[in-house]
Amino acid sequence: MTKKLTTASGCPVAHNQNVQTAGKRGPQLLQDVWFLEKLAHFDREVIPERRMHAKGSAAYGHFTVTNDISKYTKAKIFSEVGKTTPLFTRFSTVAGERGAADAERDIRGFAVKFYTEEGNWDLVGNNTPVFFLRDPLKFPDLNHAVKRDPRSNLRSATNNWDFWTSLPEALHQVTIVMSERGLPATYRHMHGFGSHTFSFINASNERFWVKFHLKSQQGIKNLTDQEAALLSGQDRESHQRDLLDSIDNGDFPKWKMMVQVMPEADASKVPYNPFDLTKVWPHQDYPLIEVGMLELNRNPDNYFAEVEQAAFNPGAIVPGIGFSPDKMLQGRLFSYGDAQRYRLGVNHHSIPVNAPRCPVHSYHRDGAMRVDGNHGGTIGYEPNQHGEWAQQPDFAEPPLTLEGAADHWDAAEDEDNFSQPGNLFRLMNPEQQQALFSNTANNIAGVPKEIQLRHLRHCFLADPAYAAGIATLLEIDQSEYAS
Ligand code: HEM
Repeated sequence: MTKKLTTASGCPVAHNQNVQTAGKRGPQLLQDVWFLEKLAHFDREVIPERRMHAKGSAAYGHFTVTNDISKYTKAKIFSEVGKTTPLFTRFSTVAGERGAADAERDIRGFAVKFYTEEGNWDLVGNNTPVFFLRDPLKFPDLNHAVKRDPRSNLRSATNNWDFWTSLPEALHQVTIVMSERGLPATYRHMHGFGSHTFSFINASNERFWVKFHLKSQQGIKNLTDQEAALLSGQDRESHQRDLLDSIDNGDFPKWKMMVQVMPEADASKVPYNPFDLTKVWPHQDYPLIEVGMLELNRNPDNYFAEVEQAAFNPGAIVPGIGFSPDKMLQGRLFSYGDAQRYRLGVNHHSIPVNAPRCPVHSYHRDGAMRVDGNHGGTIGYEPNQHGEWAQQPDFAEPPLTLEGAADHWDAAEDEDNFSQPGNLFRLMNPEQQQALFSNTANNIAGVPKEIQLRHLRHCFLADPAYAAGIATLLEIDQSEYAS
C-alpha cells in the first residue's frame, strides 16, 4: 500500500478526481464521504497567525560553549566549555502579516529555543537592544498603531508616528528603526539581543543581572529603502530564501553569544534604571563577555508543522536563568502562553518542535488534542503518599528584595529619554547620520505637521544636529520646534 492514497483513517481512496453524482450530469451525493473529509479538512487548514511577528523563517542548529561563565550561572547549558545544546531559531518581521514582504523597514524578531537537559529555555529577542515602550499596558496600542488602519485597511504612517511621538521613551527605538540598521538585508546579517534584563543565579545562589547579545558572524548588511523596494518587487520572500538557501548549501550562519553581567547590588547604584527596556547598559561599565557560538545548520522539513506551530515564550526559563523587575518582561510572561493557548491550543507544548528533550513530569492533564499518552495511569495530584513528582525546592531562587508603594507609576517624568538616543546619534558616522535623516524624512513626510514637530522636538533634545538634519529635508525652520 505504499504511495497509495488513503483517508485519514487509513482506508483506500478509490476516487480522488471525480465526485460521485447522480447520473453523468446530476448533483453530487452526500455519501461521497471522501469528498466531505477532504473539503472539511481543507476548510480548517488555517490557524490564527501570530498577533505580532506573523511572518517568519526558522532553522535548527546548536549552541556550543566557548567560555566558562559558571561563576555567574549554574544553568546546565553553560556548565562546561565545549558543551553543545540543540536549538531552534525563528526570525521574523513584526508588523507585516503572514504573507508580507520580508524586505520592510521594521524590527526583526530573533527567537531561540534551547532544548536543555533541564527544560527548554526560550530567549525571545529582537535585532535591537531596546524597545519603544517601558510599560506593557501600552503594547496592544503599539500593535494597533503599526498594523492596518481600521477604516482604510492601509498601513498608516500617521497612526505610527502619532503614537511613537506621543511617547518620548520611544525615541531610542525609533532612531534605530530609522537608521541604516532598520532594514537588514537578510536575517543572517543582523545581530540579536535578549533586550530585557534577565538574571543569572550561580551555584552559591548569588544573583546577577544579565543582558544577552548575539553577534552575527556574517557581519552586518542592510538595504536602503530604494534597494528594498526593488527587491520586494522581485522577491517578497527574500529573507526566507536567503536563510533556506544558505543552509541548504552548507553555508551555516553563526552568532557569537555574549553577555553583560551586573552584580545584583549595582542595580540601585547605576545612574539609570537597569530594568528599563528603552535603555542599554553602557559597554564601558558592563563589558561584553563571550559565552559561546550559535550555529544554524538544518532547515525544517515542513514549514507549518515546525515553524508555524513553534511557540516561544519568555516565561520558559531554566535553573540558573531568571527574570528581572523589568515590567515589560513581566507583561510578556503572561501574553505569550496565553496567545499560544489560543493560537495552538492548551497542549501546544507537546507539538514536536516545542516538546522538551528531557522528561516532562507535570500534572497538567487532558485538554484538546492531547496526543502524548496523557501520562497514562500516573496519579494526577501532589502531594501524594507515593512521593511522586514532588516539587524541587533545591531549584528555588534566592529571595528578591522589592520596595515601594503599590501604584500605577508613570516613569515618564523622572526618566532621561534623550541621552541614549543622542549618544547613538553621535556614534554614527556622517553617512549613517545622513541615512537616518533621509529615512526619517521619507517616512514622516506625509504625516500632519504637528506630529512632525513633536518628533523634531524629541530629536532636538537628543541632539540639535539630529533634529536639524531631518528638519532641513522637511523644510521646517528650527524656530518651529526648538522653542
Ligand atoms: C511574538 C506579545 C514585547 C519579541 C509575540 C506574540 C505576542 C507578543 C502575543 C505572539 C506569540 C505567539 O502567538 O506565539 C508581546 C507583548 C510585549 C512584547 C505583550 C510587551 C509587553 C516584545 C519584545 C520583544 C518581543 C520587547 C523582543 C525583545 C517577540 C518575538 C516574537 C513575538 C521575537 C515572535 C516569536 C516567534 O518567532 O514565534 N509577542 N510582545 N516582543 N514577540 Fe512579543
